[in-house]
Amino acid sequence: MKVVKTIQEVRAQVQEWRKEGLTVGLVPTMGYLHEGHQSLIRKSVSENDRTVVSVFVNPIQFGPNEDLEAYPRDLNRDMKAVEEAGGDLIFHPEPSEMYPGHFTSFIDTTETTELLCGAVRPIHFRGVCTVVGKLFNIVLPDKAYFGQKDAQQLATIRRFVRDLNFPVEIVACPIVREEDGLAKSSRNTYLNPQERQAALILSKSLKLGKAAIEQGERSAQRIIDIIRQNLQTEPLARVDYVEVVDFENIQRVETIQGETLVAIAVYIGKTRLIDNFIIKG
Ligand code: PAF
Repeated sequence: MKVVKTIQEVRAQVQEWRKEGLTVGLVPTMGYLHEGHQSLIRKSVSENDRTVVSVFVNPIQFGPNEDLEAYPRDLNRDMKAVEEAGGDLIFHPEPSEMYPGHFTSFIDTTETTELLCGAVRPIHFRGVCTVVGKLFNIVLPDKAYFGQKDAQQLATIRRFVRDLNFPVEIVACPIVREEDGLAKSSRNTYLNPQERQAALILSKSLKLGKAAIEQGERSAQRIIDIIRQNLQTEPLARVDYVEVVDFENIQRVETIQGETLVAIAVYIGKTRLIDNFIIKG
């Protein structure tokens, strides 16, 4: 397993693999890898001859008051995690490698980014799509792997790939959870023990919403109410949003039918956590 820092090095390596007729998978990450990321890497390893993992805390997807500086970073830990999961190459560029001076071109998306996190993090998805588009152009992968935990990100990436004809297949992978139900996230490291316990309210509340749908409830508002009321029983939780949207366009629905995303964002103390489930109505 190799670590490279420049676009030129990653391109040279991928070109060599291509000459040998090998297929290439890409797992874009911001590092501080956990089992969720490892499940993406393993999936890529099982479907491609070679797997590239990018480790880059992308400054342009963080708003001015967000956690860019505090975001956890540990390359040695990430190297072990990639090695263990069978990845072949880490691309770990400096911000100046990805964004040389006078950078003025962005991938901007509409519709799928209006609601949920897009409503409260105005520049976030523009930053995500721009860096992911750049990574696609740098690595030229056959397939790229994204977790369903960031469901709006997944829907948005699928959309720009389709709209802008990027020749890459997007593979969605299920949410990986701790044993007690908390969705794995690099941001879980911000939680103190009391907050870590309180954070269970996210998965528990979603479970109640899911059970109601499975028992036949079809009103989106009723599902929102069930989830919100349960979230509000946790004193350390502050609800950012509870939304029920169609998974393709990320637009609100009144009735649950077709592929529906039930998504929440909740502050536990100062840490903003997201979680969701997707259900076929
Ligand atoms: O999901 C993430 O970790 C990031 O948004 C991504 C896709 C690596 C882009 O920086």
